[in-house]
Amino acid sequence: MNVLLVGAGGREHALAWKLAQSEGLDTLYAAPGNPGIARHATIAELNVADHRAVIDFIRRQQIGLVVIGPEAPLVDGLADNIRTIGVPVFGPGRAAAQLEGSKGFTKDLCARVGIPTARYFRVTSRDGALACLDDFVADGECRCVIKADGLAAGKGVVVAMSRAEAEAAIAALFADGPAEAVIEEFLEGEEASLFVLSDGTATASFGSAQDHKRVGDGDTGPNTGGMGAYSPAAVLTPELEERALGEIVRPTIDALAAAGTPYVGVLYAGLMLTADGPKLIEYNVRFGDPECQVLMARFDGDLLHTLRAVAEGRLADLPAPAFTPDIALTVVMAAEGYPGTPRTGGTIGGIDAAEATGAIVFQAGTRAQDDAIVAAGGRVLAVTATGASVAEAQAAAYRAVDALDFPTGFCRRDIGWRAIA
Ligand code: AMP
Ligand code: GLY
Repeated sequence: MNVLLVGAGGREHALAWKLAQSEGLDTLYAAPGNPGIARHATIAELNVADHRAVIDFIRRQQIGLVVIGPEAPLVDGLADNIRTIGVPVFGPGRAAAQLEGSKGFTKDLCARVGIPTARYFRVTSRDGALACLDDFVADGECRCVIKADGLAAGKGVVVAMSRAEAEAAIAALFADGPAEAVIEEFLEGEEASLFVLSDGTATASFGSAQDHKRVGDGDTGPNTGGMGAYSPAAVLTPELEERALGEIVRPTIDALAAAGTPYVGVLYAGLMLTADGPKLIEYNVRFGDPECQVLMARFDGDLLHTLRAVAEGRLADLPAPAFTPDIALTVVMAAEGYPGTPRTGGTIGGIDAAEATGAIVFQAGTRAQDDAIVAAGGRVLAVTATGASVAEAQAAAYRAVDALDFPTGFCRRDIGWRAIA
């Protein structure tokens, strides 16, 4: 079967690497791709925002499955448009993608079906937002989380630990006039991410991970798209995972099916493990990046076979997805300046030397220039290794990082620290 993979990041490099090992694969095409993805796939010269061009390509190349990596094309309805020609797609349609596209949509769905999540208000004006703050006062201090609606690449969230911080965030949010936002209760606990495959009705757990969102060691500095991750997340015990599936994920899948907008793809549940049990922080309608890199390093199955069963509504016929007992850990190498303006163009050497240590170097923001690979974005590489423990996987990943020659890049040196501590 010919497969088209949509996307250009480290997540898609990991998917391409694993799809390339699948038995049923004839040709893997990728659009727009990157030099890492090009090691496993034929790059298709396609503008993925032009859905008609994508459909023409699918017909011409006799594509039997389309795998959509990032959220933007999903929210944009690419999966719906491809399904109109009868080709199976791994990734939800526009309506179900609202789980990521609109925080208000998700919060309202949770309220309707009783899914545990932070108490919240939807607001559309500065005065309305300020009026909610009294509801989030505990022990004399106002603590809440202010979230702009819509896709914000992890940047639209402010955790306010005082009324002054909350008021400043609200002022910034409404500086340019009306906006849509959610203000919610601050939840205490450890965070974990759970990945679940859904073919619209059946679901299957697809592993857990823990991300490192802040740019600096010790979880300091501004938020990023993710500076590293490891899998599985030991804090999400089998009991807590079962609760999260039963109380959060399955009711969501059932509600979308009942609404006639079935969820087909992978659902990424960002969870807070509170004293009262798991609560939903947010949904993403795709694999995490860099969480996908660690999931693929551990997935012990045929990825094409699995994603195809999801896309064709046959998930219930498959055995439960299996993962190696290893810990996988990935360290993101970013370009200097990230998450502000990254310094692009820096040469990246030593990828072969890093991989000779046994690690895999997934490429994200890279581009080929003459015979070299250079940095072309904020997050540039995801250096991924496995080990029998988090400490071993961490040591292996940093051995590979140290074999790279990427002077304009940087990374955190403490990925996995919570689990190791
Ligand atoms: P989000 O974009 O919704 O994932 O939020 C980004 C980060 O903000 C999360 O990973 C959490 O660390 C934090 N966060 C979001 N919502 C809450 C909440 N209700 N309570 C505590 N922290 C939160
Ligand atoms: N690493 C967080 C995300 O993919 O949203």
